[in-house]
Amino acid sequence: MRDKFLLHGVGELLELTPEYAKVTLVPVEDRLTEPSESGSRIANPRQPSSMNEQPLSFVVAPQQNEENFQCLLACLLEFNVRWARNAPVLLLSIARLTFASNGAINRHALHDVGQAMAHLTLQANASRLAVCQMAGFDIQRARETYSIPEDHEPVTVAAIGYPGDPSTLSERLRQKQLTPQKRNRLEDFVFEGKWKQPAKAVSEHK
Ligand SMILES: Cc1cc2nc3c(=O)[nH]c(=O)nc-3n(C[C@H](O)[C@H](O)[C@H](O)COP(=O)(O)O)c2cc1C
Repeated sequence: MRDKFLLHGVGELLELTPEYAKVTLVPVEDRLTEPSESGSRIANPRQPSSMNEQPLSFVVAPQQNEENFQCLLACLLEFNVRWARNAPVLLLSIARLTFASNGAINRHALHDVGQAMAHLTLQANASRLAVCQMAGFDIQRARETYSIPEDHEPVTVAAIGYPGDPSTLSERLRQKQLTPQKRNRLEDFVFEGKWKQPAKAVSEHK
């Protein structure tokens, strides 16, 4: 059952990704995510991690709870506040940078949190929600607001909601939203045999 759901989700995702990637910056409509099964599935992403350490924590701020929402919104930099204030949910991700068992540096903590966020995004997209991750926030302010311990690192704030109408955006944001992103060519980063030598499968696929 679970596999079926995952496959179904990924299948849908392949169709939805281009559209959703484009709309992640638009103000979401005022349809709140229901605190239902799908909400908890999204907040509980598949979380493979080095040594099963699971270094991820979230602070969730639904718009429904005005006080909590404003606290996290106030951590964002101004250029993100402008659109993210319309999101139904903000989510701060935090990585524990040391192993719980022995305090040694966990050098894969940020990798594992990024991976969990990618899974969360896929799961959300499969539920027709958009996710926009933001590095543009005041890390120190987040640290102080939530009393985040020294060996933990605030990583990103994500805005989650239903895609909105791009025409409601300012001209600058609309242009940014509607302009397709340029991606690196596969041969520039997929190598085989030695560094910088494009992988055979990639060059044959051109
Ligand atoms: C780690 C990370 C940090 C980002 N920070 C911001 C940000 O602060 N503000 C913003 O508008 N977009 C930011 N983005 C980009 C948006 O999340 C972007 O719309 C989303 O990744 C979809 O991207 P695409 O259009 O490149 O596919 C960030 C993306 C990532 C992965």
